[in-house]
Amino acid sequence: MQFIDRKGRGLRDLRISVTDRCNFRCTYCMPEEKYHRDFKFLATDQRLTFSEIVRVTRLFASAGVRKLRITGGEPLLRPALADLIGDLRALPGIEEVALTTNGILLAQHAAGLKAAGLDRVTVSLDALDERVFRDMNGGRGSVDRVFEGINAALEADLTPIKINAVVQRGVNDHTVPELLERFRGSGVIVRLIEFMDVGNINHWKETDTVPSAELRERIAERWPLREVSSNYDGEVSTRYVYEDGAGEIGFISSVTNPFCGSCHRARLSSDGQLFTCLFATMGTDLRQPLRDGASDEELAKIIRQVWTRRADRYSEQRAALRREGREIQKMEMYYIGG
Ligand code: GTP
Ligand code: 5AD
Ligand code: SF4
Ligand code: SF4
Repeated sequence: MQFIDRKGRGLRDLRISVTDRCNFRCTYCMPEEKYHRDFKFLATDQRLTFSEIVRVTRLFASAGVRKLRITGGEPLLRPALADLIGDLRALPGIEEVALTTNGILLAQHAAGLKAAGLDRVTVSLDALDERVFRDMNGGRGSVDRVFEGINAALEADLTPIKINAVVQRGVNDHTVPELLERFRGSGVIVRLIEFMDVGNINHWKETDTVPSAELRERIAERWPLREVSSNYDGEVSTRYVYEDGAGEIGFISSVTNPFCGSCHRARLSSDGQLFTCLFATMGTDLRQPLRDGASDEELAKIIRQVWTRRADRYSEQRAALRREGREIQKMEMYYIGG
């Protein structure tokens, strides 16, 4: 069965956040001033259990979902995550399970995740320069540790490995060439993400974003690039290869070139709220019905209703909403899962 939304988009991709906690404090996501020691994150019993996640994911798979992405916060903070991944990977219809992580705990988990059935990882890494890296993530971890994680993931064959770098003007845009150079020829794909207005905490201004076209021009002066076709319909990253054969890079341009028209993604927060857009203001609670003993049919009906009513296309509306001063209250990235 396929669920189609009001814009003709099917439901193919589910992003599952397994925790709202993180061991980083990225200034654009969980600034230390707000997410300090006394901040109340979700309690264990507020989070979906593994069996609850597996149960709803099975229903999503019956509704057409083929690809899962595990996110957080930082997903590797969730104890025994490999067990969950093993169960999800075995669900009928699921073709791929990927994980987005900041890499700090990856070295110790990579082999176990692979053995459990994880297909690949994407590691967030905004800069190689230690000072810029730490300025952006609230002074946590180290670039070396992220590299230990990336190397362990390579050894475990969690490939193709992708690096997500959020580019902020005046913060890390000058470090992009160094990042690219480090991964050229390694098979690891760096993706440069336009800094966007997820949530409300980061006080986004349009001028903080470096448009992908501008960045691409700067990069192509040094390393000529050629665009290549996407891997699948709805891929958020526009793919390029270096003309000299040193591999692939990607640009994620949700501000300057929105891709809502092919957005097949649903998001499940760690407390069981279902969201149909990264910029959603509201979700639909699946946890209560799950815990009240709803049948599979009843749960599937909720999912179908949510998806068939969906009309989200925030990135396409952003400019107009802002021009009209109609800014909305959005979920924060660490909660909705990126
Ligand atoms: P692949 O399966 O490797 O293509 O992964 P992906 O690009 O779907 O997932 P990833 O988590 O690596 O996404 C990279 C970034 O793209 C996210 O962190 C967001 O910043 C952005 N992104 C992903 N999905 C969406 C989306 O639906 N809308 C918008 N506006 N941005 C998105
Ligand atoms: N704009 C763009 N990307 C962001 N991420 C987090 N916040 C933002 C933002 N405001 C990225 C993270 C990670 C992914 C899950 O989302 O760095 O790579
Ligand atoms: Fe953590 Fe990712 Fe948010 Fe940074 S962007 S604080 S690594 S969840
Ligand atoms: Fe999908 Fe919303 Fe992102 Fe558009 S803004 S691509 S609808 S998640």
